[in-house]
Amino acid sequence: MAPRTIITLPNETLTRKARPVTDFGESFQTLVDDMIETMRLAPGVGLAAPQVDVPLRVAVVEFGQEEDEDAPKKLYTIVNPEIVRPSEEMILGMEGCLSIPGFVAEVDRHAEVTVKALNRRGQPVKIKAEGWLARIFQHEIDHLNGILMTDRAERVFSLEELEAEDEDEDALEV
Ligand code: NI
Repeated sequence: MAPRTIITLPNETLTRKARPVTDFGESFQTLVDDMIETMRLAPGVGLAAPQVDVPLRVAVVEFGQEEDEDAPKKLYTIVNPEIVRPSEEMILGMEGCLSIPGFVAEVDRHAEVTVKALNRRGQPVKIKAEGWLARIFQHEIDHLNGILMTDRAERVFSLEELEAEDEDEDALEV
């Protein structure tokens, strides 16, 4: 296991559609382990394979659903994911992206989604998510389609700009 380099804009891997995973063998398992390590080191709450320059449809997410910072975090590996049953309700929130350092974006996301995917062993899983977790899944699945937060943003802020305005905005890095 070794952390990988997170690529940033304008690297073109970030704006291309990634291919489905079909081989769950050793090199794929290493990729998933490396992505988990890279996400934790960053630190971030989510990371998609295109962010480490691998055009495959896999992302890792680690986040506690509860507000309490000490609540146990749950680790998800989603392979070839699809969003089913997105809620009609949308929520505007701030997010950051490890591939767009120095910026945060205000993005409208579905309040609740169900993610249908395979786990790292290729077995089907269904995850129901709401709030921040739902936002993270939508951000990561967008990465697999070459879509970035800035493509969907209502507004984009530089961190410098926010600091100058003395705004204390919490944004998740994903
Ligand atoms: Ni991102």
